[in-house]
Amino acid sequence: MSLLETRGLTKEFGGLVAVDDVDLDIQEDERVSVIGPNGAGKSTLINLITRMLDPTDGDIRFKGETITDLDPYDVVQMGVSKSFQTASIFPELTVEENARIAALAAEHGSFRFNFLRHQNHYPEVAELTHETLDSVGLLGQRDTTAADLPYGDKRRLELGIALASEPDLLLMDEPTAGMSPEETHATVDLIEQVKEEHGLTILLVEHDMEIVFNVSDRIIVLNRGGVIARGTPDEVQGDPRVQEAYLGGVEL
Ligand SMILES: Nc1ncnc2c1ncn2[C@@H]1O[C@H](COP(=O)(O)OP(=O)(O)OP(=O)(O)O)[C@@H](O)[C@H]1O
Ligand SMILES: [Mg+2]
Repeated sequence: MSLLETRGLTKEFGGLVAVDDVDLDIQEDERVSVIGPNGAGKSTLINLITRMLDPTDGDIRFKGETITDLDPYDVVQMGVSKSFQTASIFPELTVEENARIAALAAEHGSFRFNFLRHQNHYPEVAELTHETLDSVGLLGQRDTTAADLPYGDKRRLELGIALASEPDLLLMDEPTAGMSPEETHATVDLIEQVKEEHGLTILLVEHDMEIVFNVSDRIIVLNRGGVIARGTPDEVQGDPRVQEAYLGGVEL
């Protein structure tokens, strides 16, 4: 059984078919990348899986159960978490407070009013907060206001927040967008590290081919909403349909 399966997954925006009849099968412990030109439907596909968007058609199964009708919150509880390209950070709070909110949500379900007042009653929350910061290397910056973090550290904090719910499947949409080469390198190392430490299955959307070819067991290529190729990095790299999609059919 696949960890994540989609069948005939389709999303239309008005007349535009952003995701077109997509079948995915992601196995446990795999690292799979989704690539494709701008507007191919990659983010829409991720947002369908997290249930931030409703599909026009098709089915999504996670651990064998259909999640097509669930709310985003329930999908997180089942073990799907998304990091990056999300506004998950509270900029005016410290790094530690951000991690604590994520830990509280993970330990106690939905967000509670006045939750910070009760924080010391929950030793498990303190422990998870500490683990969350430790796993993304932000213990030293715990008292920094999130807004004041360098860009790469903000993305780390987002990753930590996503990991606090102890997901089985981590979705990432362009984790290195806007990063310097050093930050990109550190992020790739971090992805490798969290994969080892958390036993995660990863579905990654990424434009940087060096990262894609380095971290992926398999690659799925989308173009205009549809899957045009899938396979190992070597198979995909040599596929003429992929080259055509990227070059727009222009012969060099
Ligand atoms: N909420 C929306 N309403 C209308 N059209 C949308 C919406 N979201 C996405 N689209 C359109 O759907 C198509 C796919 O968009 P999507 O953002 O999924 O592409 P992408 O592959 O993530 O692109 P990029 O690489 O630029 O991030 C695009 O044509 C986009 O304009
Ligand atoms: Mg996108």
